[in-house]
Amino acid sequence: MGFLRKVLALILGLSVLVSAAVAEEPILIRFSHVVGENTPKGVGANLFKRLVEERLAGRVAVEVYPASQKFSDDEVLNALLFGDVEMAAPSLAKFNRWAKALQVFDLPFLFEDVDHIHRFQQSDVGRRLLSSMTSRGIQGLAFWDNGPRVISSTKKLNTPGDADGLVFRIEPSDVFQEQYARIGAVGVAMPFSRLTDAIRDGVVNGQENTWSNIYSRKIHKLHRHFTEIGHSHLGYMVITGADFWRGLPRDIRASLEEILAEVTAEVNGLAAEKNEEARNKAMAEGGEGVVVFAPIDDQLQAWRDAWMPVWSRFEPDIGSDVIDAAVNAARRQ
Ligand code: SIN
Repeated sequence: MGFLRKVLALILGLSVLVSAAVAEEPILIRFSHVVGENTPKGVGANLFKRLVEERLAGRVAVEVYPASQKFSDDEVLNALLFGDVEMAAPSLAKFNRWAKALQVFDLPFLFEDVDHIHRFQQSDVGRRLLSSMTSRGIQGLAFWDNGPRVISSTKKLNTPGDADGLVFRIEPSDVFQEQYARIGAVGVAMPFSRLTDAIRDGVVNGQENTWSNIYSRKIHKLHRHFTEIGHSHLGYMVITGADFWRGLPRDIRASLEEILAEVTAEVNGLAAEKNEEARNKAMAEGGEGVVVFAPIDDQLQAWRDAWMPVWSRFEPDIGSDVIDAAVNAARRQ
């Protein structure tokens, strides 16, 4: 063999070895989220990591980045598209700019309870919403629960009129913006990571969130009044990059789907309990400094009257078929 041939054979041999070594590298899934680890989503992300690393050891590795360590929800969708992260689970109110139909989850007083939400999410229309951003490069994989949104504020809200002139931190949802405008307040969209400072610095007088998020961010130490209206539920869509997901070996994708189904059942089974536990702890730690108020009868009706009209404003964006499917899911089969 001539010298040149020997060199070429050596280069070829080396490149085969290098590609074999590269092929053996585990696929890395970076899961970025914005909340604490002791919340439904935090537990879900960590469980996903544990199950993947048990069942796909050496083939897939998962790194979880909680509490906005890597990206805020504002940034994470683009990060998925740029391949800087592989999974995330933003709240459904964060997809405003990406798929208008998902605003159905933001409509006030639409869902009676969490079973109603599950029936809708499992319906044909609900399942199709997981693919509502696929053409934009984002694939939905599952819906996860957190819990009912509770309004916390510096001032007691007996009636919607009591919110007049207040400023509320909201998730970036046009529906929420409109809701607060309708009660004479201002809704300011900002990332979850800025919430505590915005309250502490007096930039906002109120916000709405689940008890698990309120407790983990110690909002019960900053706000005195908590209004449980039952108007809205905070849930998540677990998402990935559509190209990343399609590019996975078929058997790995199937195993990940199986694991996600298991984690989804676990998260959705523990979310209510986590929120109840956080509510009790916030009340115990806050003592008389925490006042929880749940409007009923005429007072509740006043909130419904103030907020239900936003449905018609958003119906053209969301689609009446999607709203009807969500409303009809209230009826047990
Ligand atoms: C979350 O639960 O992921 C955060 C919700 C928020 O932004 O308020």
